[in-house]
Amino acid sequence: MKITFTGKKPSGSIVFVRLDEKLETSCCEKVGNKHFLNLKAPKAEEMNRRKWLLLVRQIVRSAKAHKFEKLAIDWEELTAYDNLGENLAEVFAHNAQMAAYEYRAYKKKPKEGWKDLREIVLLTSTKNLPRLRRELGAGLKVAAAVNVCRDLANTPGEDMTPKILLRQARRMFADTAVKVRALGEKEMKKLKMNGVLTVGRGSGQESQFIIVEYRGGRRGAKTVVLIGKGVTFDSGGIDIKPHPHGCEMMMDMSGAAAVLSVIRAAVDLKLKRHIVGLIPAVENMPGGKSMRPGDVIRMMDGTTVEVGHTDAEGRIILADALTYARRYKPSTVIDVATLTGAAVVALGERASAVFTADDDLAQETLRLAEEVGDYAWRLPLWDEYDAEIKGNVADISNINVKGKPGYGGAIIAAAFLKHFARQHKRWMHIDMAPTMTAVADEHLARGAKGSTVRLLTELLRRGKI
Ligand code: BES
Ligand code: ZN
Ligand code: ZN
Repeated sequence: MKITFTGKKPSGSIVFVRLDEKLETSCCEKVGNKHFLNLKAPKAEEMNRRKWLLLVRQIVRSAKAHKFEKLAIDWEELTAYDNLGENLAEVFAHNAQMAAYEYRAYKKKPKEGWKDLREIVLLTSTKNLPRLRRELGAGLKVAAAVNVCRDLANTPGEDMTPKILLRQARRMFADTAVKVRALGEKEMKKLKMNGVLTVGRGSGQESQFIIVEYRGGRRGAKTVVLIGKGVTFDSGGIDIKPHPHGCEMMMDMSGAAAVLSVIRAAVDLKLKRHIVGLIPAVENMPGGKSMRPGDVIRMMDGTTVEVGHTDAEGRIILADALTYARRYKPSTVIDVATLTGAAVVALGERASAVFTADDDLAQETLRLAEEVGDYAWRLPLWDEYDAEIKGNVADISNINVKGKPGYGGAIIAAAFLKHFARQHKRWMHIDMAPTMTAVADEHLARGAKGSTVRLLTELLRRGKI
């Protein structure tokens, strides 16, 4: 979908958007030969940035529902509220494109083609045009990355195996200077990456450890490592998931998709940074070769891990990635993962959980999360929780094998990762399980939401990581 700012009168067959807080429901109207889409807007005194970005999406979803192809919006009217904050053209770009998105890879195209909203024209008085266009341009790049992320995550498990994920990563960066390579199982064996190897052992698909290197910074500049959980399908393994818990588990590589997309956005925004993406990509399946509950894994860093539950697989593969990351001597390491159902229990579906010992980073993250609309909330990472991952027969366990099952599951997963991140200067873990899929009232297509792409890109852009 095309979005442009213009200072001129728009031409052609076009529908004008009008906002009205007194309306009961939205409706279409024809006055003379002009078409209008009248939308109920939030009350001016109750408006804020959170509601505004939802309004932007709602405009697009309503236009799509009415099969309108071209919209005109009065930018001054749309932004005539207090408390909206800065960079609204960027926020508009993100949310309009996110709302326009549909996942249609497996749907038959109608004979007459898809009736899509093809263009939005934003009408404005000319004085701010250059700034607005700049903001819009940047926003559109990030928005494109968010939607690529959703395509990757939405792809069914059969068509998004570790090797296909690698192929997609290669394709994504084919026109750039970004290097994409991968370690197959043979190479991982040499490195004793037994965490990744063990989780992937029950699958017929070969595991891959994908490495993406973007060197946009000055010589000698510090490196940021982004690690994404790449479980291309999570059946739970021998501790198999009951229906319907498996149905969304093709999206268990959403962290990996986010990392790839953030790096793509960094390239498009020409960020002067060194960024390395590490993606342990595996399929977690039950089978004759699967890891068993009670098995002990000797991890890449030498720690022994007792498998208390084969469905707590994400933390095991991420642990080896955290160890591998040491070779980059990174200034910051961030991992993103659809890690625990417990995070969903804790926060509902409206915010990702963030964990870090760095108070400044936590604060900046929550502030930017709010600003870009990719919401996050902090949970504790205190040393007291380390007691919960003590193993019975091994150094540590991947679940709490001694205490009450289920208690503080998201925090226990973070405590597990913390053990493997111990040598890193600055580390943050984002459990994005809560925000993996769109909630009905968010005005987005069902399925993957592409969360954390806007947040991480913004952290990089502002030099906060
Ligand atoms: N991939 C799941 C977590 C998940 C659940 C993501 C729902 C998105 C939506 C993860 O691998 C998992 O199964 N975690 C278990 C861990 C438990 C067995 C300790 C969980 O959270 O239930
Ligand atoms: Zn699992
Ligand atoms: Zn999982």
